[in-house]
Amino acid sequence: MLYPVVWQNNSVLLIDQTRLPNEYAVVEIHRSEDMAEAIRTMIVRGAPAIGVAAAYGMYLGAREIETSDRTEFLNRLEQVAQLLRSTRPTAVNLFWAIGRMMQTAYETLGTIAEIKQILLETAQNINAEDIQTCEKIGDHGLTVLPKTPEKLIILTHCNAGALATAGYGTALGVVRSAWREGRLTRVFADETRPRLQGAKLTAWECVQEGIPVTVITDNMAAHCMQQGLIDAVVVGADRIAANGDTANKIGTYSLAIVAKAHNIPFFVAAPISTIDFTLANGSQIPIEERHPSEVYQVGDTVLTPSGVEFYNPAFDVTPADLITAIITENGAFAPGDLVKCHHNS
Ligand code: MRU
Repeated sequence: MLYPVVWQNNSVLLIDQTRLPNEYAVVEIHRSEDMAEAIRTMIVRGAPAIGVAAAYGMYLGAREIETSDRTEFLNRLEQVAQLLRSTRPTAVNLFWAIGRMMQTAYETLGTIAEIKQILLETAQNINAEDIQTCEKIGDHGLTVLPKTPEKLIILTHCNAGALATAGYGTALGVVRSAWREGRLTRVFADETRPRLQGAKLTAWECVQEGIPVTVITDNMAAHCMQQGLIDAVVVGADRIAANGDTANKIGTYSLAIVAKAHNIPFFVAAPISTIDFTLANGSQIPIEERHPSEVYQVGDTVLTPSGVEFYNPAFDVTPADLITAIITENGAFAPGDLVKCHHNS
């Protein structure tokens, strides 16, 4: 199994996702500032994975605070939280994990050394829980996938795999479970312009596990559906509003539209920590805009003439009515029924 974020020998080891698939490199992180930079530059990426990374980042920041004064400690920890919150705006798991770490610090009585120790344990718990959560999501996915054909071809977008979580993955968790149960023929992976997480990361993960994978460019999805090549679409999520509107990697929305046009079920697989019940609908989800070079350049090659303008939103919002079901660790729910997710298990 792949683990993109690992606590080892008092530091955090991150698989450098900017180098895959050409190079498997591990980056060692000792300081919260370096963790913030790793999240910003997408050495670690994917909503649950950046939550886990930020939780460790909080501990790394906490252990550097040298004071015996509780108020000073908490104030300086809040500054660490602010730095980590400023890295990426869309995935709510980041804010959720930082919030849980801050709450732990506030609620823990005892010496500063004891608070630091509890913060480390909380980060480790967030890490371990996410793996279990993803395994449950994968298995709940089996209950909603189409019953026919017996062996499915699943299309996915971006990378919602082990690399994007603490392990196992959300959308790729469903794929993994389907593969294990003999319910999968192959995965179609959208390349996912502009950063190519599908072509690079999803394809790499599938190859590691021996899951057959076909990479297509994003604009081929409708054609593949029309040709009868796709049985279901499963994607991850960065933030889900209370009404089920779902922010995920740019291109997810158009995929949902073409899936609907072809009567193909469209599933979102995500942990409950990705649901932001404070937002009534998707129009309130902040959408990250990234550097234009991701659009005008591939590798070192500049694609466009000078004198043009660029727009590079990293996420889009798929309206709830295009989503067949949202698969969580507590079961699969119609997007309009998300409030029930806390009551099931
Ligand atoms: O910009 P990224 O690579 O962090 O975007 C990742 C995605 O959009 C994933 O689909 C999402 O975070 C779900 S990960 C389980």
